[in-house]
Amino acid sequence: MRMIDIIEKKRDKQELTRQELEYFVEGYTKGKIEDYQASALIMAIYLNGMTNQEITNLTLAMAYSGEVLDLSTLGEIIVDKHSTGGVGDKVSLILLPLVSSLGVLVAKMSGRGLGFTGGTVDKLESIPGYQTQVSMQQMIQNVKKIGISMISQTLNLAPADKKMYALRDSISAVESIPLIASSIMSKKIASGAQKIVLDVTVGKGAFMKQLEEARKLANTMIEIGKLAKRETVCVLSNMNEPLGYAVGNCLEVIEAVEFLKGNMPEDVKQVVLELGSQMIKLAGNGDDLEENKRNMLENIENGKAYQKFLQLIENQGGDISYIENLEKLPKAKLVEAVYSKNDGYIQEINSKEIGKIAGKLGAGRDRKEDSIDPSVGIVLGKKVGDKIKQGEVLAYVHANSESKLKEAKKSLEEIIKISSSSVEKEKVVLEMIK
Ligand code: URA
Repeated sequence: MRMIDIIEKKRDKQELTRQELEYFVEGYTKGKIEDYQASALIMAIYLNGMTNQEITNLTLAMAYSGEVLDLSTLGEIIVDKHSTGGVGDKVSLILLPLVSSLGVLVAKMSGRGLGFTGGTVDKLESIPGYQTQVSMQQMIQNVKKIGISMISQTLNLAPADKKMYALRDSISAVESIPLIASSIMSKKIASGAQKIVLDVTVGKGAFMKQLEEARKLANTMIEIGKLAKRETVCVLSNMNEPLGYAVGNCLEVIEAVEFLKGNMPEDVKQVVLELGSQMIKLAGNGDDLEENKRNMLENIENGKAYQKFLQLIENQGGDISYIENLEKLPKAKLVEAVYSKNDGYIQEINSKEIGKIAGKLGAGRDRKEDSIDPSVGIVLGKKVGDKIKQGEVLAYVHANSESKLKEAKKSLEEIIKISSSSVEKEKVVLEMIK
């Protein structure tokens, strides 16, 4: 087989065989195929698309390019959850202890933030002592002991995706449905998921800007799931404005803890309940979605979800005194408010722009090797549709440098748009597709 023939076939809009896709993925992962030929093929895929059969074969080849976890020793269905990326997305921190408190086993490997989106691992690591880098055996032991473990991807999982993602990033070929779908599903399959709930974000702070594109991505991942025998459900959620109020690692941990104690921002609540009710159903712990939601709310009310969160932190080596007394968490030196200059209604809080501002404050990273500052970020004072009076707080900036504080305040004044006439709140959970 020759790479040049595979490129030519895709360039001419023909369907690639399983063998051809395996040849490419294996050769590229092992360094036998050069970047220039891989780039040509990836761009041909970007431009000409793929059939569902091709996407599934690509996904499986990527999933099996490294280790594939076997979680069957846990003896129960493992339902994994994944988001296509967002700003202020603290859903995993809340949702996973919550469903765990209802008996759903959770063995979750999360990523770090990159670009303007945040990552669960960075948020967990802002809790002093929390170990995200543990062995697979340790993770399985943790799940057996308390029903939940949340760690970072320590193993050589789907190495083809790592290489291909970096290449896509460098040749402007990220926003492609076959390539995003295979990237996400290969990681889920490699991490041992038997069933999968996907939060497919839509809007200004998401890869998919339009609902129609997000539907296509969701249907493609569901189809891969069917062909790969991993039942998959997608929840489409709005990412035009950040989720909740806090953006930044410690700040989001605080918001997550507050949520588990019953102080639930409405948008976060809707996404958590929707994803959680689907996870509980797929795990075989309850077919009635509304009842699942009621049970989740009950476990917030009676403190069981919060207790499960504490148990998770403690079991991973974290110091729970920082959760019991949130004042102890790392704090930024400078906290200042941005005030509204007018009366009116909040019209727009562009989540991608908010993510970028938080990133510049030090909450995110441009390159994988960069370190982050857990204490900095933004806490919104209002959400889209809220009424605001002149002099009221639009947002607080948490910074560790005067110049960054000043820059962030100026940017926030520009990007938080206010209208003089009333603005309707947008729907948060847009659709469920399975
Ligand atoms: N998230 C992923 O894991 N991969 C993509 O290609 C896009 C979003």
